[in-house]
Amino acid sequence: MKTIKFYKTGDKYGCFSNFSSHPIVINNVEWKTSEHYFQAMKFLDPKLQNRVREINSPMEAAKFGRDRALPLRPDWEQVKDDVMRTAIIAKVTQNQEVFDILFYTDDAILIEHTINDAYWADGGDGRGKNMLGIILMEIRDKIKSALTKVGVIKGDITTLRIDAIVNAANKSLTGGGGVDGAIHKAAGQELKMYCAKYKGCKTGEARVSSGYNLSAKYIIHAVGPVWYEGEKNEDRKLYMAYSNSMVLAQEVKAKEIAFPNISTGAFRFPFDRATAIQRYAIVSFLMLNDNIDKVQIVCFSEKDLQRVSTKYNKNNR
Ligand code: APR
Repeated sequence: MKTIKFYKTGDKYGCFSNFSSHPIVINNVEWKTSEHYFQAMKFLDPKLQNRVREINSPMEAAKFGRDRALPLRPDWEQVKDDVMRTAIIAKVTQNQEVFDILFYTDDAILIEHTINDAYWADGGDGRGKNMLGIILMEIRDKIKSALTKVGVIKGDITTLRIDAIVNAANKSLTGGGGVDGAIHKAAGQELKMYCAKYKGCKTGEARVSSGYNLSAKYIIHAVGPVWYEGEKNEDRKLYMAYSNSMVLAQEVKAKEIAFPNISTGAFRFPFDRATAIQRYAIVSFLMLNDNIDKVQIVCFSEKDLQRVSTKYNKNNR
């Protein structure tokens, strides 16, 4: 069994260190690193928590949190593992770089390797508890179980008998070419009339309609970004188009939802880059929400089917 040892943020797999500069948001509060959040949760006093939040470096945040002149919450020993789990699941599902690196560690044993810590790390001699490594592997298992809900198929999305299909729409929501054109043609004129009431939709957002003449019960119209060489925050907008579609699917209680490869046609988004964002957005959502049972990625060509299937296979880089 392969072993991956990590510690310094500058080394390979350094993103797994709590000191890595990957911000997280928990209960609408932003933290510069998972270390900041972890150290702040040692205190029940919101003023002390806020003091940690405002500290610049994770090292200084750790020093502040370890200062026993300050009142440690009495139940810290009982809650610290779950505090760390909360921090790390946020870090993995809110930072695509961390998600992707953890995704490709496959079944390797993850070890925080340092003599400085025998609880969260291995104590340098391998006899430590390595609790941070254990939590990372727990969260990787959540990725694996979410992946079992994702299928990649070849076909025409307009033919699917499914709770909801997602349309790669444009901001007007009045139809167009590609999958948008196919969906509007198959759904019928009423769809266009219904969508007109939305008076458009911003890039990265999504709106829902019924399926009309389609076999699908609902259509979720997601507006992906046009590719401008990555200069207009396209990655984030594509992520939001997928994530907002999952939120809407959950709101209409769809149990099974199908996506096309949004923005990879007329909008010219680089295919493999788009698929990595699609995988991150869909799998992260499924890791945190249990209401959707199945997500189908519908590829319109054999070539697309091969490329998307490869991306969802943890053994392929
Ligand atoms: N079923 C599944 N996938 C399809 C179908 C279909 N019937 N038709 C096309 N596709 C695939 C394309 O092969 C591509 O991989 O959908 C993906 C998205 O391509 P587009 O439909 O061109 O959508 P996008 O790149 O997001 O551009 C959206 O194009 O059609 C117009 O009105 C639309 O302005 C909007 C823009």
